[in-house]
Amino acid sequence: MSSLIDLKSFGRDLNVAVFGATGGIGKALTLSLSTNPNTQSIFAISRSKNEYASPKITSLQVDIDNEHDIVRVAKAVMSTVSELHIVLIATGILHVGDNIKPEKSWRALERVSMEAVFRVNAIGPALVAKHFLPLLAQNRKSVFAALSARVGSIEDNRLGGWYAYRSSKAALNMLIRTLSIELARLNPSALCVGLHPGTVNTSLSKPYQGSVSKGRLFSVERSANHLLNVLNSLQPEQSGQVFAWDGKPIPF
Ligand SMILES: NC(=O)c1ccc[n+]([C@@H]2O[C@H](COP(=O)([O-])OP(=O)(O)OC[C@H]3O[C@@H](n4cnc5c(N)ncnc54)[C@H](OP(=O)(O)O)[C@@H]3O)[C@@H](O)[C@H]2O)c1
Repeated sequence: MSSLIDLKSFGRDLNVAVFGATGGIGKALTLSLSTNPNTQSIFAISRSKNEYASPKITSLQVDIDNEHDIVRVAKAVMSTVSELHIVLIATGILHVGDNIKPEKSWRALERVSMEAVFRVNAIGPALVAKHFLPLLAQNRKSVFAALSARVGSIEDNRLGGWYAYRSSKAALNMLIRTLSIELARLNPSALCVGLHPGTVNTSLSKPYQGSVSKGRLFSVERSANHLLNVLNSLQPEQSGQVFAWDGKPIPF
């Protein structure tokens, strides 16, 4: 797949913020956007420090679990540009070392690890929305998109397990829908959506790739380009939904 993605529906000189820019998918999104002729400035926002060769990219640090960090980063962005056209949230956790693992049974449920997963996967994106939705451009297409997951769909849940991850993504989906309703009143040309990137070869999915057939495991580049194509295809009336990598809405 070509790495040059059509972002023409957004217009020219796009300012973009990517949260989780050190992650597998977040980094691929950042790099694909940095080579796109329609982008002007990319804010690569991540917890760990990162450096980029492209002069379009400004690197900023944030812990998405810390609202003060989010406010500081919003101010830093607005000291450089007057508006944003694309905000992408590619942060998320499924497992962390030996402490947090997806639960196979209700017997494995633990308050501390559930809380940590909800803080990163649902509360963090909500606080980013609080401080970044007001920065979206008015009177032209703009989008706030958070990476969700098909397993966050209540309707689609037939296998069970992965309690904290599934329910944190279900909470994220409800936040996206609720934010989109308020956003439509304040900024009718803007969208707020969730995205399912497919099953992607990253450190997040690595321990669980055994059951995935080869053709169904996407490279990060392939997933990032699919997601940018989906964003390019969306219209404001589709705000509030969750879309898979192929552009199909996921019932949630
Ligand atoms: N990979 C898949 O198959 C798949 C499938 C469905 C959905 N998703 C979703 O896609 C998103 C990206 O996943 P990925 O596969 O690219 O995972 P990844 O490679 O593990 O990247 C996760 C990113 O989240 C960041 N992060 C975690 N906690 C953070 C915090 N407190 N503050 C700031 N950043 C934090 C990490 O930063 P550090 O580098 O600092 O740790 C990293 O940049 C996630 O929301 C995931 O749920 C992935």
